[in-house]
Amino acid sequence: MSRNTNILLTGGTGYIGSHTALALTSRGYNVVLLDNLANSSAEVVDAVRTISGRDCTFIEGDIRDGSLLKDVLRKHQIGSVIHFAGLKSVSDSIEDPISYYSTNVVGTLELLAAMASEGISKLVFSSSATVYGVPAYLPIDEAHPTSPVNPYGRSKLHCEEILRDVAAAGDWSIVCLRYFNPAGAHESALLGERPTSRPNNLLPVISEVALGQSATLQVYGNDYDTPDGTGVRDFIHVMDLAEGHEAALRFAETSRGFETFNLGTGQGYSVLEMVQAYEQESGRSIARAFSPRRPGDVASCYADTSKASQVLNWQAARSLHQMCASSWANVSAEAGAHVEVSDSPLSKIVDQ
Ligand code: NAD
Ligand code: WQD
Repeated sequence: MSRNTNILLTGGTGYIGSHTALALTSRGYNVVLLDNLANSSAEVVDAVRTISGRDCTFIEGDIRDGSLLKDVLRKHQIGSVIHFAGLKSVSDSIEDPISYYSTNVVGTLELLAAMASEGISKLVFSSSATVYGVPAYLPIDEAHPTSPVNPYGRSKLHCEEILRDVAAAGDWSIVCLRYFNPAGAHESALLGERPTSRPNNLLPVISEVALGQSATLQVYGNDYDTPDGTGVRDFIHVMDLAEGHEAALRFAETSRGFETFNLGTGQGYSVLEMVQAYEQESGRSIARAFSPRRPGDVASCYADTSKASQVLNWQAARSLHQMCASSWANVSAEAGAHVEVSDSPLSKIVDQ
């Protein structure tokens, strides 16, 4: 029997889902994107089609709509699912935990039920390094204890626990990918991070300052026990992350049971190192001010990536500078004429 290359990407118009759609189409997979557009726009589908030169199917719908999921799985003869759909803001999850548990946990249960009903057993799940909580040691390997410190993180850990139980009870292959800090954009500059809600991750905020859409980057804390006092994170280029999903899909095709993998680079960079790299790649100066530490932040967090390297035969290849350069190429292209050359003495952007 031929390999089934029809893949459903829930949350497929989101940041990581859309970049993964590109990585998969370039490797011959057929992708179906399902999303309710809570934090993305349908324009992303056109960008994926344009860049890949291939068609892809988009279905607007909610991950908690079990009958829709069954219809999509059947109609498109789906072989495997990558489950990105979810809510991801730590601060929102503290304010509105019901929405987070509903979308993330109930959504995952509905998907599992639909897959079971349609006889589909291969699933790659978007988990997060946030399930580890405060690092007990560094780098963090997959055996590190899980102890998330906010409702978002707990919703991801609940999903992982459910997935582990489901895999143990039947003939499933379930791969949980614990992402560290995704950053950057597709090298075409036509696709990047386009949240419809206000961003609070570091790189989108830096890019807003670079574009002049925001005055100052607030650097949360300069008194951490790190080389320059600012937080250290394992930033991973979104296209490396996207390619990690293809490696996970290949693994799921030949394995059974439940596995977790860290997807990171294994290298930590500080907030200030990221700012400096962005300044160099954008030619813009990034105004910043030091603020108090953000509640819930840790000093340093970076991955031990040896399991993904050995078992998935995958490792990140792109640099911090490539993350910054691709982000800037994307956001400045989208801002178009709104980017003023005279904004900064460092500016090297030419308006069209
Ligand atoms: P994103 O917000 O860009 O993408 C998530 C997509 O899910 C969005 O397009 C959104 O519209 C969709 N969605 C939300 N609720 C839905 C619902 N009820 N039904 C259908 N679609 C729904 O976020 P992302 O950065 O691409 O993250 C993808 C996944 O990876 C998420 O599960 C997130 O928790 C996880 N993750 C993200 C990061 C990160 O820093 N970006 C890190 C670790 C894990
Ligand atoms: C990185 C560093 C901030 C913004 C979060 C989630 C995690 C995962 C990835 C989904 C920290 C500093 C940031 C700003 C700053 N998401 N910072 N000024 O907190 O490591 O991880 O996103 O699973 O669950 O918690 O990422 O990009 O928000 O912050 O100084 O305006 O940048 O303090 O040191 P974080 P981040």
